Amino acid sequence: MALLLEGRGLAASIRARVASEAAALGGRPPGLAVILVGDDPASESYVAGKRKACEKAGFVSSVSRFFDSVGPEVLLAEIARLNADPSIDGILCQLPLPGHIPLDAVARAVLPSKDVDGFHPQNVGSLWRGERGIVPCTPAGIMRLLDANGIDPSGRRAVVVGRSGIVGKPVAALLLAANATVTIAHSKTRDLASVCREAYILVTAAGIPGLIGADFVAPGAVVIDVGITRTAGGLAGDVDFESVEPLCSAITPVPGGVGPLTIALLLENTLACRKLAAG
Ligand code: GUN
Repeated sequence: MALLLEGRGLAASIRARVASEAAALGGRPPGLAVILVGDDPASESYVAGKRKACEKAGFVSSVSRFFDSVGPEVLLAEIARLNADPSIDGILCQLPLPGHIPLDAVARAVLPSKDVDGFHPQNVGSLWRGERGIVPCTPAGIMRLLDANGIDPSGRRAVVVGRSGIVGKPVAALLLAANATVTIAHSKTRDLASVCREAYILVTAAGIPGLIGADFVAPGAVVIDVGITRTAGGLAGDVDFESVEPLCSAITPVPGGVGPLTIALLLENTLACRKLAAG
Protein backbone atom coordinates (compact mmCIF):
# COMPACT_ATOMS: atom_id res chain seq x y z
CA MET A 1 0.00 0.00 0.00
CA ALA A 2 1.36 3.41 -0.97
CA LEU A 3 1.51 6.21 1.61
CA LEU A 4 -1.42 8.55 0.88
CA LEU A 5 -0.15 12.15 0.70
CA GLU A 6 -3.17 14.02 2.04
CA GLY A 7 -2.99 17.80 2.17
CA ARG A 8 -5.89 18.73 4.42
CA GLY A 9 -4.24 18.24 7.83
CA LEU A 10 -1.05 19.99 6.77
CA ALA A 11 -3.06 22.84 5.22
CA ALA A 12 -5.06 23.25 8.45
CA SER A 13 -1.88 23.50 10.52
CA ILE A 14 -0.36 26.10 8.13
CA ARG A 15 -3.59 28.11 8.23
CA ALA A 16 -3.71 28.01 12.02
CA ARG A 17 -0.09 29.19 12.29
CA VAL A 18 -0.70 31.98 9.74
CA ALA A 19 -3.81 33.10 11.65
CA SER A 20 -1.95 33.30 14.96
CA GLU A 21 1.02 35.13 13.38
CA ALA A 22 -1.37 37.59 11.73
CA ALA A 23 -3.13 38.23 15.05
CA ALA A 24 0.22 38.77 16.77
CA LEU A 25 1.27 41.42 14.22
CA GLY A 26 -0.99 44.09 15.64
CA GLY A 27 -2.24 46.97 13.51
CA ARG A 28 -4.43 46.31 10.53
CA PRO A 29 -5.07 42.72 9.37
CA PRO A 30 -3.50 41.36 6.16
CA GLY A 31 -5.63 42.19 3.10
CA LEU A 32 -6.06 40.11 -0.06
CA ALA A 33 -7.73 41.45 -3.22
CA VAL A 34 -8.99 38.96 -5.80
CA ILE A 35 -9.90 39.93 -9.36
CA LEU A 36 -12.43 37.63 -10.98
CA VAL A 37 -13.33 37.88 -14.67
CA GLY A 38 -16.36 36.07 -16.10
CA ASP A 39 -18.56 33.48 -14.44
CA ASP A 40 -16.65 30.20 -14.76
CA PRO A 41 -18.11 27.95 -12.00
CA ALA A 42 -14.70 26.48 -11.09
CA SER A 43 -13.18 29.95 -10.66
CA GLU A 44 -16.23 31.07 -8.64
CA SER A 45 -15.77 28.14 -6.30
CA TYR A 46 -11.98 28.67 -5.93
CA VAL A 47 -12.52 32.37 -5.18
CA ALA A 48 -15.26 31.56 -2.63
CA GLY A 49 -12.79 29.15 -0.94
CA LYS A 50 -10.09 31.84 -0.84
CA ARG A 51 -12.48 34.38 0.73
CA LYS A 52 -13.63 31.89 3.36
CA ALA A 53 -10.05 30.99 4.24
CA CYS A 54 -9.19 34.71 4.58
CA GLU A 55 -12.12 35.26 6.89
CA LYS A 56 -11.16 32.29 9.09
CA ALA A 57 -7.56 33.53 9.33
CA GLY A 58 -8.67 37.04 10.32
CA PHE A 59 -7.61 38.56 6.98
CA VAL A 60 -9.72 41.06 5.07
CA SER A 61 -10.50 40.19 1.47
CA SER A 62 -12.22 41.82 -1.47
CA VAL A 63 -13.35 40.57 -4.86
CA SER A 64 -13.42 42.84 -7.92
CA ARG A 65 -15.74 41.27 -10.50
CA PHE A 66 -15.75 41.92 -14.22
CA PHE A 67 -17.72 40.60 -17.19
CA ASP A 68 -15.94 38.32 -19.70
CA SER A 69 -15.96 41.19 -22.21
CA VAL A 70 -13.91 43.52 -19.98
CA GLY A 71 -11.12 45.39 -21.79
CA PRO A 72 -7.52 44.89 -20.66
CA GLU A 73 -7.17 48.61 -19.84
CA VAL A 74 -10.02 48.34 -17.28
CA LEU A 75 -8.34 45.39 -15.54
CA LEU A 76 -4.96 47.15 -15.54
CA ALA A 77 -6.57 50.25 -14.02
CA GLU A 78 -8.11 48.10 -11.27
CA ILE A 79 -4.70 46.52 -10.57
CA ALA A 80 -3.15 50.02 -10.39
CA ARG A 81 -5.85 51.06 -7.90
CA LEU A 82 -5.16 47.98 -5.73
CA ASN A 83 -1.38 48.52 -5.99
CA ALA A 84 -1.92 51.97 -4.46
CA ASP A 85 -4.36 50.80 -1.74
CA PRO A 86 -2.46 50.63 1.58
CA SER A 87 -5.02 48.20 3.09
CA ILE A 88 -4.25 45.60 0.38
CA ASP A 89 -1.13 43.43 0.78
CA GLY A 90 -1.79 40.80 -1.88
CA ILE A 91 -3.40 40.93 -5.34
CA LEU A 92 -4.49 37.81 -7.20
CA CYS A 93 -6.09 37.74 -10.64
CA GLN A 94 -7.94 34.43 -10.84
CA LEU A 95 -6.98 32.34 -13.88
CA PRO A 96 -7.99 31.40 -16.50
CA LEU A 97 -8.60 34.83 -18.04
CA PRO A 98 -10.50 35.31 -21.34
CA GLY A 99 -8.25 34.97 -24.41
CA HIS A 100 -8.30 38.70 -25.27
CA ILE A 101 -6.63 39.63 -21.93
CA PRO A 102 -2.83 39.46 -22.23
CA LEU A 103 -1.68 37.41 -19.25
CA ASP A 104 1.80 38.83 -19.39
CA ALA A 105 0.54 42.42 -19.04
CA VAL A 106 -1.53 41.41 -16.00
CA ALA A 107 1.43 39.61 -14.39
CA ARG A 108 3.68 42.65 -14.94
CA ALA A 109 1.06 45.12 -13.66
CA VAL A 110 0.86 43.70 -10.13
CA LEU A 111 3.49 45.22 -7.84
CA PRO A 112 6.12 42.51 -7.16
CA SER A 113 5.69 43.19 -3.44
CA LYS A 114 1.92 42.43 -3.66
CA ASP A 115 2.23 39.55 -6.15
CA VAL A 116 0.92 36.68 -3.97
CA ASP A 117 0.79 34.37 -7.03
CA GLY A 118 4.51 34.86 -7.75
CA PHE A 119 3.75 35.49 -11.45
CA HIS A 120 5.60 38.84 -11.86
CA PRO A 121 8.85 38.46 -13.87
CA GLN A 122 10.80 39.79 -10.86
CA ASN A 123 9.47 36.98 -8.65
CA VAL A 124 9.91 34.39 -11.43
CA GLY A 125 13.53 35.56 -11.80
CA SER A 126 14.11 35.40 -8.04
CA LEU A 127 12.81 31.84 -7.98
CA TRP A 128 15.16 30.63 -10.74
CA ARG A 129 18.08 32.56 -9.23
CA GLY A 130 17.45 30.94 -5.84
CA GLU A 131 16.80 34.33 -4.20
CA ARG A 132 14.12 35.33 -1.75
CA GLY A 133 10.88 36.17 -3.48
CA ILE A 134 7.26 35.12 -3.62
CA VAL A 135 6.81 31.50 -4.75
CA PRO A 136 3.60 30.41 -6.57
CA CYS A 137 1.19 28.76 -4.13
CA THR A 138 0.62 25.31 -5.65
CA PRO A 139 4.32 24.55 -6.29
CA ALA A 140 5.17 25.76 -2.77
CA GLY A 141 2.42 23.46 -1.45
CA ILE A 142 3.90 20.47 -3.31
CA MET A 143 7.28 21.04 -1.65
CA ARG A 144 5.64 21.31 1.80
CA LEU A 145 3.76 18.07 1.19
CA LEU A 146 6.99 16.26 0.26
CA ASP A 147 8.84 17.71 3.25
CA ALA A 148 6.05 16.93 5.74
CA ASN A 149 6.15 13.30 4.60
CA GLY A 150 9.92 12.95 4.81
CA ILE A 151 10.41 12.75 1.03
CA ASP A 152 13.75 14.34 0.10
CA PRO A 153 14.27 15.18 -3.61
CA SER A 154 18.02 15.64 -3.17
CA GLY A 155 20.03 13.59 -5.67
CA ARG A 156 16.88 11.95 -7.10
CA ARG A 157 15.34 12.08 -10.56
CA ALA A 158 12.21 14.24 -10.74
CA VAL A 159 9.97 14.49 -13.80
CA VAL A 160 7.40 17.28 -14.13
CA VAL A 161 4.66 16.82 -16.74
CA GLY A 162 3.46 20.27 -17.85
CA ARG A 163 5.32 23.54 -18.46
CA SER A 164 2.82 26.16 -17.26
CA GLY A 165 3.90 29.24 -15.36
CA ILE A 166 1.51 28.34 -12.51
CA VAL A 167 2.73 24.81 -11.74
CA GLY A 168 5.12 23.07 -14.16
CA LYS A 169 7.97 25.59 -14.45
CA PRO A 170 7.95 26.84 -10.83
CA VAL A 171 7.78 23.34 -9.31
CA ALA A 172 10.69 22.34 -11.55
CA ALA A 173 12.66 25.33 -10.18
CA LEU A 174 11.85 24.34 -6.59
CA LEU A 175 12.81 20.69 -7.16
CA LEU A 176 16.06 21.86 -8.75
CA ALA A 177 16.73 24.13 -5.75
CA ALA A 178 16.13 21.04 -3.57
CA ASN A 179 18.93 19.30 -5.53
CA ALA A 180 16.80 16.97 -7.67
CA THR A 181 17.78 16.19 -11.26
CA VAL A 182 14.77 17.61 -13.07
CA THR A 183 13.16 16.89 -16.43
CA ILE A 184 10.25 18.99 -17.68
CA ALA A 185 8.05 16.96 -20.04
CA HIS A 186 5.14 18.41 -22.02
CA SER A 187 2.68 17.79 -24.83
CA LYS A 188 5.45 17.55 -27.44
CA THR A 189 7.61 15.11 -25.43
CA ARG A 190 8.22 11.86 -27.31
CA ASP A 191 7.62 8.60 -25.46
CA LEU A 192 6.26 10.32 -22.38
CA ALA A 193 5.77 7.01 -20.57
CA SER A 194 9.45 6.09 -20.67
CA VAL A 195 10.49 9.62 -19.58
CA CYS A 196 8.07 9.42 -16.63
CA ARG A 197 9.36 5.96 -15.68
CA GLU A 198 12.73 7.57 -14.90
CA ALA A 199 11.18 9.55 -12.07
CA TYR A 200 11.53 8.91 -8.39
CA ILE A 201 9.29 11.97 -7.96
CA LEU A 202 6.67 12.36 -10.71
CA VAL A 203 4.67 15.60 -10.65
CA THR A 204 1.88 15.78 -13.19
CA ALA A 205 -0.01 18.97 -14.06
CA ALA A 206 -1.36 18.27 -17.54
CA GLY A 207 -5.10 18.48 -16.88
CA ILE A 208 -5.73 15.27 -18.85
CA PRO A 209 -7.70 12.74 -16.78
CA GLY A 210 -6.15 9.26 -16.82
CA LEU A 211 -3.01 10.36 -18.74
CA ILE A 212 -0.66 8.69 -16.26
CA GLY A 213 -1.20 4.93 -16.26
CA ALA A 214 0.81 2.09 -14.68
CA ASP A 215 3.28 2.06 -17.60
CA PHE A 216 4.35 5.64 -16.67
CA VAL A 217 5.42 4.81 -13.12
CA ALA A 218 8.54 3.08 -11.79
CA PRO A 219 8.09 0.81 -8.76
CA GLY A 220 8.55 2.82 -5.54
CA ALA A 221 7.97 6.23 -7.18
CA VAL A 222 6.33 9.18 -5.45
CA VAL A 223 3.43 10.46 -7.58
CA ILE A 224 2.07 13.99 -7.12
CA ASP A 225 -1.11 14.63 -9.12
CA VAL A 226 -1.90 18.33 -9.63
CA GLY A 227 -4.21 17.87 -12.62
CA ILE A 228 -7.71 18.63 -11.46
CA THR A 229 -10.35 18.34 -14.19
CA ARG A 230 -14.10 18.56 -13.66
CA THR A 231 -15.71 15.56 -15.36
CA ALA A 232 -19.26 14.18 -15.37
CA GLY A 233 -18.10 11.75 -12.65
CA GLY A 234 -16.66 14.53 -10.42
CA LEU A 235 -13.10 15.83 -10.00
CA ALA A 236 -10.44 13.77 -11.79
CA GLY A 237 -6.66 13.95 -11.63
CA ASP A 238 -4.15 13.12 -14.38
CA VAL A 239 -3.33 9.80 -12.72
CA ASP A 240 -5.25 6.56 -13.15
CA PHE A 241 -5.17 6.05 -9.38
CA GLU A 242 -6.45 2.46 -9.32
CA SER A 243 -3.68 1.09 -11.54
CA VAL A 244 -0.86 3.40 -10.36
CA GLU A 245 -1.31 3.33 -6.58
CA PRO A 246 -0.13 -0.28 -6.08
CA LEU A 247 3.22 0.59 -7.72
CA CYS A 248 4.00 3.74 -5.71
CA SER A 249 5.69 4.35 -2.39
CA ALA A 250 3.52 7.48 -2.00
CA ILE A 251 0.73 9.13 -3.98
CA THR A 252 -1.65 12.10 -3.66
CA PRO A 253 -5.40 11.53 -3.79
CA VAL A 254 -7.50 13.83 -6.02
CA PRO A 255 -9.19 15.70 -4.50
CA GLY A 256 -7.56 16.12 -1.08
CA GLY A 257 -3.89 16.00 -2.07
CA VAL A 258 -2.15 19.19 -3.19
CA GLY A 259 -5.38 21.20 -3.61
CA PRO A 260 -5.93 22.18 0.04
CA LEU A 261 -2.35 23.44 0.30
CA THR A 262 -2.79 26.05 -2.46
CA ILE A 263 -5.07 28.21 -0.31
CA ALA A 264 -2.92 27.70 2.81
CA LEU A 265 0.16 28.93 0.90
CA LEU A 266 -1.85 31.84 -0.52
CA LEU A 267 -2.54 32.96 3.06
CA GLU A 268 1.13 32.48 3.92
CA ASN A 269 2.19 34.58 0.91
CA THR A 270 -0.31 37.31 1.83
CA LEU A 271 1.02 37.37 5.40
CA ALA A 272 4.58 37.63 4.03
CA CYS A 273 3.51 40.64 1.90
CA ARG A 274 1.83 42.19 4.96
CA LYS A 275 5.08 41.86 6.90
CA LEU A 276 6.96 43.37 3.94
CA ALA A 277 4.54 46.33 3.96
CA ALA A 278 5.19 46.76 7.70
CA GLY A 279 8.92 46.89 6.93
N1 GUN B 1 -6.43 29.36 -11.09
C1 GUN B 1 -6.15 28.11 -10.70
N2 GUN B 1 -5.10 28.11 -9.84
C2 GUN B 1 -4.71 29.40 -9.70
C3 GUN B 1 -3.67 30.04 -8.96
O1 GUN B 1 -2.87 29.42 -8.25
N3 GUN B 1 -3.61 31.39 -9.08
C4 GUN B 1 -4.46 32.09 -9.88
N4 GUN B 1 -4.32 33.40 -9.93
N5 GUN B 1 -5.42 31.52 -10.58
C5 GUN B 1 -5.54 30.18 -10.49
